[in-house]
Amino acid sequence: MQTIIDKLGRPIRDLRISVTDRCNFRCTYCMPKEVFGDDYAFLPKSELLSFEEIERLAKLFASLGVKKLRLTGGEPLMRRGLPDLVKKLIVIDGIEDIGLTTNGVLLRQAAQPLYDAGLRRLNMSLDALDPEIFGVLNGRGIKPDFILSNIDFAREIGFEIKVNMVVQKGVNESEILPMAAYFKERGITLRFIEFMDVGNDNGWSFDKVVTKKEIYEMLSEVYEMEPSDEDYFGEVAKRYRYMDSESEVGFITSVSESFCSSCTRARLSSDGKFYTCLFASSGFDLRELIRSGLPDDELLEAIRNVWEGRTDRYSDERTEQTAKNRKKIGMSYIGG
Ligand code: GTP
Ligand code: 5AD
Ligand code: SF4
Ligand code: SF4
Repeated sequence: MQTIIDKLGRPIRDLRISVTDRCNFRCTYCMPKEVFGDDYAFLPKSELLSFEEIERLAKLFASLGVKKLRLTGGEPLMRRGLPDLVKKLIVIDGIEDIGLTTNGVLLRQAAQPLYDAGLRRLNMSLDALDPEIFGVLNGRGIKPDFILSNIDFAREIGFEIKVNMVVQKGVNESEILPMAAYFKERGITLRFIEFMDVGNDNGWSFDKVVTKKEIYEMLSEVYEMEPSDEDYFGEVAKRYRYMDSESEVGFITSVSESFCSSCTRARLSSDGKFYTCLFASSGFDLRELIRSGLPDDELLEAIRNVWEGRTDRYSDERTEQTAKNRKKIGMSYIGG
């Protein structure tokens, strides 16, 4: 096994695989209803990578150094038969860890089969405990209690769970302390995510970002915390431990403290494009190569060339101008 390195010296370590571009939420910051309406053209099934194609690509990526896989969407639980994919991926040589990022709506039906397939880690999105705020943010009026009960349900099955909260100024800042208290008490790591300018549709500006520093200061009024060690090289979240408990809290600081210098993540869209940055304008079409019958060694060579040519560091370079003017892929399409 070899590990390929990009132009800025960063090894490839993680592959985020989007299994569908569809979602049952319409989060205002990701798939605003006005853009993703009833007549929105999602990808037809024939354009999605099949599980066999995903498995084949994951094996190739693993042979180039990928150790961690994450299944994303859209909402990954909307893809039928997902446990079968997990079973295929988990046995790949070199893969040490596999996680799934979900809004949790379909977890009642999905959790046990996924656990039985070998999945152990879930990152769940929840932006507020207040029903009004959460209902508006998710665009579907879904109540937080429903997601909270699904979190408990998945936990009882045995999943290790982290919760993601995207914080937007003037929208859900008031939920920072209630969310922190709720998850601290339950020993679940809550990660506050700085609102990012993903895609071109989410109305982002610097003014709408609540920075890690601001959130940390709010928490410090109530809790004493100390930094925890990195879980793995290039971990996305900076984590802290509450001094009076075993619980942790994290921050994902793409805006105020970018982490591009240790970015080891590759991304595969549901239609088989390979992206080297969450903020890329275009991807490299691996589906076309697979479906044209290319053998493994040539596919491998293509993947290697893309990674070895990689210079992305969008968050290091972000300005109001790039946020507005640069064409970027959508979050629901690439899965974060
Ligand atoms: P684990 O560390 O394995 O738990 O996963 P993760 O935190 O990387 O995955 P998750 O899907 O929960 O992502 C959390 C947030 O981090 C999302 O908002 C992602 O968009 C963001 N994120 C993940 N990787 C990157 C990255 O490379 N760049 C940027 N800017 N954001 C990222
Ligand atoms: N900024 C920050 N995080 C976002 N997510 C989706 N859109 C954005 C955005 N614009 C988060 C989701 C989910 C994760 C995959 O990405 O809430 O937790
Ligand atoms: Fe919300 Fe995630 Fe769906 Fe986007 S993909 S609309 S962030 S639940
Ligand atoms: Fe990696 Fe791009 Fe995120 Fe920087 S902005 S950490 S290069 S995905």
